[in-house]
Parts: sequence; C-alpha cells; structure tokens
Amino acid sequence: MEKKHVRTGIVGSGFSASFHFEAVRKIYGTDVEIVGNYSVDTEGAAAYAKQRGIKAFDSLESLIDAVDVVHCCTPPYAHEAVSVAALEADKFVICEKPLTGYFGDGSGDFHGERFAKQIALDTALESVDRIIEAEQNSKGRLLYAENWVYMPSIQKEREILEKTGAQILWIHGEEAHSGSHSKDYAYWSRCGGGVLIGKGCHPLTAALYLKRVEGNARDGKPIRPKTVSARAHSLTRMDSFRDEGHIRCNYYDIDDFSIMHVEFEDGTLADVIASDIVVGGIHNWLEVCANNHRAVCNINPNTAMQTYNPVEANFKDIYVVEKIETKQGWACTSPDEDWFTGYPQEMEAFYRTVAYGEPPQSDSLLAADSISTIYSAYLSAERKGAAVDVRTY
Ligand SMILES: NC(=O)c1ccc[n+]([C@@H]2O[C@H](COP(=O)([O-])OP(=O)(O)OC[C@H]3O[C@@H](n4cnc5c(N)ncnc54)[C@H](O)[C@@H]3O)[C@@H](O)[C@H]2O)c1
Repeated sequence: MEKKHVRTGIVGSGFSASFHFEAVRKIYGTDVEIVGNYSVDTEGAAAYAKQRGIKAFDSLESLIDAVDVVHCCTPPYAHEAVSVAALEADKFVICEKPLTGYFGDGSGDFHGERFAKQIALDTALESVDRIIEAEQNSKGRLLYAENWVYMPSIQKEREILEKTGAQILWIHGEEAHSGSHSKDYAYWSRCGGGVLIGKGCHPLTAALYLKRVEGNARDGKPIRPKTVSARAHSLTRMDSFRDEGHIRCNYYDIDDFSIMHVEFEDGTLADVIASDIVVGGIHNWLEVCANNHRAVCNINPNTAMQTYNPVEANFKDIYVVEKIETKQGWACTSPDEDWFTGYPQEMEAFYRTVAYGEPPQSDSLLAADSISTIYSAYLSAERKGAAVDVRTY
C-alpha cells in the first residue's frame, strides 16, 4: 500500500518540540513531511528551524494554513488557543499534556495558594468544553500526546487486560524527579498548577486509560473515575527546607509533592504520587494489581541495561539516562530512552489516525477526564483530602 503523504508543523521550539521532531522522523507507516515551526520566541524558532532544515513561520495562522497536523508543544497556558485554532481550520492537533487548565485571573499578583480551587475546576472544565466543541465542529481531531498511554509496558498491559478479561483492583504509580528544566514551570499562571498536574497527569492518565480498556474489553463500556481525594504540598518552599543544590527549589507558587487517591465507578482504586523532590534520575513506574495477574511497568529507571563506570570523565560524551546527577558507579543506562518512554510509538499511532483513520488510544475525552480528575484533586487538597466527585466526559 502506498504511504499517505501528511504535512506537519510544530508550535514551540523548546524541549518537547525537540522530542516531537525526533519521534516524527522515526514514523514508518506514513510519509510525513515536517514543513516548519512557529514559536512566540522568534529567535528560538529560527534557530530550531535552521538546525532541522525546516521553515520558521512568522505566525501561527500561516503555519496552520500550510499543514495537515499541528503539534502543540507550548506551555500549558497556550494549549487551548493553539488547539482550537488548528481545529477551527479543520486540521488535526497533537496536543502535549496537560490538555488545558486554570491559569489564574490575569492579575499581576495572582498566587496559586490564594484562590478558591472551585474556580480552577470550573474554569478548567470550561476550557475543556471549548476544546471539545471545537473538535466536534472540525474535520480534524485532537490527539492527546500522553506518552504513558503508548509506552510499550502499558500497551503490553492493555493486551493482557483485553485477552484475559482481568479486573483491575488497584493501580499505583508515580512520576518524579528532581525538578523540571522549564522556566515557566514555577508559576501556576503558566502551567495551571504544580507537580500534581505537571507530573501527576502522566500516571493518572495511564490509570484512567487502563480502566477504560478493562471496561471496554469486558462489557463494551469504559470504567470512569468517580471520586478523588488528594493532598498537595510545597516541600522546597518550606522555611525548614535545607537546600544542598540537588533539588530545584525556586518555584514561585506551585506544589512539588502530591498524592491522588482515585475511586472508580466500579469501586476499584488508583493511587498516584507525583513529586519534584526525588534525586537519582527519573522515577516513573506503574503497577497493576488485578484479580488474575499483577504487572509492574518499570519505565525509568529500568534494568534493560546497567553500566558500571569507575571514572566520571570516561562517560563525559555518553548520554546515560535522563536527569541522573552522576555517571560514575552503577547506572541504569538506557539504550533507547525514547522507546521506553513511548514517544515514537505515540507518533506512529497518531499518524495512523491522521492518514488511515485508525481510532486513537489517547483522545480528547481521556484528556478531559484527566483534567477533570486533576482539578477535582486540587479542590480535594484544599479540603485537606476530602473526597470530591469527578465529572467525566
Ligand atoms: N510528554 C512529556 O514527556 C513532556 C515532557 C516535557 C514537557 N512536556 C509538555 O510540553 C509542553 C511544553 O513544555 P516544554 O518543556 O517543551 O517547554 P519549553 O519551555 O522548553 O518550550 C515551550 C516553547 O513554547 C513556546 N511558546 C510559548 N508560548 C507560546 C505561544 N503562545 N505560541 C507559540 N509558542 C509558544 C516557547 O517560546 C518555547 O519555544 C508542556 O505542555 C509540557 O507539559 C511533555
């Protein structure tokens, strides 16, 4: 079969714009042409484009006009505007996580700890509604770039659920490291919250996804979240925090430690921990405890490869694994980190949707349930962990 030709464009020129580009280049089932990029940082966009031999567009609209698919790799506050603009032009959009959120009241002195979280929940869901409405009126679709859904270990668990009719009783998972590189990640007004949304969205969405898979496989009906209880803390902003230089600690108004306890409509559970206080590299894992099996999905670190290096300098030109503080001694060196993280798999799958109409695993409704659970969790945290009902999509 001849591969379909699809033109694509990237919005943003930072960290995620880079790994999206690399993952798109690995696509084999669709003939993808990366036409260009656009970013509000015109210098950064020009450098990004030059390095990759693509065109830097001078406006979002001109990029959207020139492509079939738009990758939204901006900070969360711009996801709705970019996604809706692409959908209104009948284009597909591949939107980074989180789908959208609540980014404050626009005032200069907005502070993430000094507003009613019910406002955040209501406003975030209004934003979700606008995106979904734009999708419903569009010939394009929103594909939600939650790489945890596409990680090989999560997709293997999907196969187990589908073929054995398992009932998941409890999922627990974590995403953590020692702090994001992003300057915007420090301000609620740019990210829609702190670690609970920024990192918590990953294992949470994987848990929501697996319960959907379970329900669809057994009864043709997804199992949705019902309530969430949560706590959120700011450990590195405590007066008593002792900075030794290993953990990022210059956040303005966001949480850096969070726990969400989700109860699904069938009474089963998921617990998600997310934090910015863990040294030793990325700590991303998810475990499924089902009635007929147990699965431990080790994402990072994992032991696919381990290296022992007696002299730090020996590995100076060698990429070992994300966010590790030292390359000396034993390390869980990743032979292909992007693969374990699901980046190439998600792009391959998204372009099968764009080109050949395959239903996506990670869509706007999964993203919407994730946002709804997250902001209900912030409301619960404000109420010191009282259970809050989750609206589902
Ligand atoms: N899935 C993952 O593993 C993963 C990892 C990192 C980041 N992310 C997500 O990717 C998104 C971007 O994060 P990042 O780390 O790439 O940030 P970044 O700061 O490295 O890059 C953001 C880029 O967006 C541009 N930008 C900002 N506002 C814009 C606007 N209104 N229009 C166009 N361009 C705009 C900036 O100039 C910059 O080039 C976030 O939503 C983040 O949560 C996902």
